[in-house]
Amino acid sequence: MSSPAIYDPIAAELDLVIERLRELARVDFPWLGQMLEHVLRQRGKQIRPALCLLAARFHPCDMRQVVTMAAAAELLHTATLVHDDTVDKSALRRGDPTVHSLWGDSTAILLGDYLFANSADLCTSTGNLRCVHLFAYTVMTLCKGELNELFSAFDVKQTREHYLQRIERKTASLFAMATESGALLSNAPEAEVEALRRFGHHLGLAFQIVDDILDYMGTEEDLGKPVGNDLLQGTVTLPAILLLEREPSDTTVRRACEGPDREAAVREAVERIRSSGMIEEAYAVARGFADAALAELKHLPSSPAQASLRGLVDYVLSRSR
Ligand code: FPP
Ligand code: MG
Repeated sequence: MSSPAIYDPIAAELDLVIERLRELARVDFPWLGQMLEHVLRQRGKQIRPALCLLAARFHPCDMRQVVTMAAAAELLHTATLVHDDTVDKSALRRGDPTVHSLWGDSTAILLGDYLFANSADLCTSTGNLRCVHLFAYTVMTLCKGELNELFSAFDVKQTREHYLQRIERKTASLFAMATESGALLSNAPEAEVEALRRFGHHLGLAFQIVDDILDYMGTEEDLGKPVGNDLLQGTVTLPAILLLEREPSDTTVRRACEGPDREAAVREAVERIRSSGMIEEAYAVARGFADAALAELKHLPSSPAQASLRGLVDYVLSRSR
């Protein structure tokens, strides 16, 4: 299934989400309006709002509420990226200059807060207390994940379990929020809510592993950021952890983290990881989580929405950006 076909059952609602987000840029404060335009016009893959909309498709419900929640999920994601780029000091996001590089760190933090508050406002306007609780819990979890990433930077002793816990928090939690909230708003039975939450969780893990693989394998043009950026920033992800696990005497990753001349050492580590077979191993781990996500779909009736969720799993594994 191609990405537009995956979104077919929810195309009209996804347009409403985009419209809802565009409306947010219309504010009575030109400087803020300009920055909102900048971040909201960078259209990403829209996986999170799509997950929320698709998860709500299994029972008849008021789709306006679901559109609002889907917009909240996308906006929360945007807020985290504005903050993450500031923390990571990244120059580019989706090929465009980042907010902090254009307007400075203080402005970027405040803009991220503004987006975050706006997403919370959207979520509360669904009037669903479980969604509000889920949203708050997810933000706490995302922060734990990002803090974990900061505290484990340059740590070559971190284990695969440590890495998985980190990506569970910083990525899978938001995927799970998207699917669980969609299910809740459609008044799905509890067993389906659980299955959709677990689907989002496992898909999120697969997504982040592939994201971390692409950081080694993609091109700067596709990624919108430099290749090897994670390691350059000290973020040790699955391909590097697997190499450290398999070949403890190999010093490439250690030199990339500890220096001297880290830039050259990172370039060397990228080459080493590309030729080491660890990319294939990391893909196998991602495929395991993708299969776990697919297994959850057995708890849901066959339908166009179910086929789209299946298509999203394939897309997440095969994407190149
Ligand atoms: C991108 O990951 C970042 C995240 C998935 C989560 C970031 C979370 C925060 C900054 C907490 C935000 C809190 C509030 C209140 C909004 P990545 O660095 O692996 O992806 P990238 O390579 O695309 O930057
Ligand atoms: Mg980042």
